[in-house]
Amino acid sequence: MAVLGVVSVTLEVPELEPGIKFYTDAGLVAAASGGGVAKFCCKGQERPSVVLIGGAPHKRLHHISLRAADLEGIRAAVAPHGGKAVDAPEGFDQTGLWVEDAHGMLIHLEERPAEPTPEPAEPLTLNLPGRRVRVGRSAMLPRHRYERASPLRLGHVLVFTPDVHESVAFMTGALGMGLADRAQDVIAFTCARRNSDHHVVAFAKSPGVGFHHASFEVSGPDEVGRGGSELLEKTGKGGWGFGRHTIGSNFFYYIQDPWGSWFEYYADIDYIEDHSLWTPTNYAMEDSLANWGPGVPSDFVHNYEVRGAA
Ligand SMILES: [Fe+2]
Repeated sequence: MAVLGVVSVTLEVPELEPGIKFYTDAGLVAAASGGGVAKFCCKGQERPSVVLIGGAPHKRLHHISLRAADLEGIRAAVAPHGGKAVDAPEGFDQTGLWVEDAHGMLIHLEERPAEPTPEPAEPLTLNLPGRRVRVGRSAMLPRHRYERASPLRLGHVLVFTPDVHESVAFMTGALGMGLADRAQDVIAFTCARRNSDHHVVAFAKSPGVGFHHASFEVSGPDEVGRGGSELLEKTGKGGWGFGRHTIGSNFFYYIQDPWGSWFEYYADIDYIEDHSLWTPTNYAMEDSLANWGPGVPSDFVHNYEVRGAA
């Protein structure tokens, strides 16, 4: 039994229109929508990475979808690890396996092929001390020569949980994932056991379940910075970046969505080819958010899905 990657996140939201503007401004492609649902794909992909269901009283995580193998093995392991297999919600994909973890977070597990690997990006040529490799040409083009950011793939989601340790135990024990790293009992990162980004599903401590962010890979650090600053100009509120994480090493830029959760552009995340050869680290809290970057917004880890949450 094993989770192989993340497919999508589905949110209930009050109104679709602000979400359609936000996600298309972020560079996702609006897929066929209707019936109070809006779906957003990365360019060139057929399956949506983000699904919004309108008409809710406030934003709420509905479920995350993960690509997995051996669903029957997962089904057998769910109850012993504090979760339960459940029926597919009405109106949702009846195939695959639907489970809830010990905190009631709904997860859809799908046996499906991976999306095609993005075309290899041009390697960065950095002029470093004693090493001049980009000679006779500029690294940067005038601003107008760049197209807007275009997310290549959904890499990971971060969700809130009342108990990080329990959530990790479920993901590793029942879903066959691996603990990549953590910071005390406050935040933890799980990955697929083979050929995985450093994290696929991450957890942050909060009084309740909720959606924190979905993170999309772009072509490199410049697109992280450019895409983030341009999206921030459009939304006019709530940004954190440009910076670099300690845990996972990725460059990041987060933009706040219309409901207080976040959208991340990332590049250059650590890669875990074989989790059995990786040693998870328990980091100090000073390393839990960023290695460097601007000040963290005061509500960056606020769970708006729990009334009165810290
Ligand atoms: Fe992230």
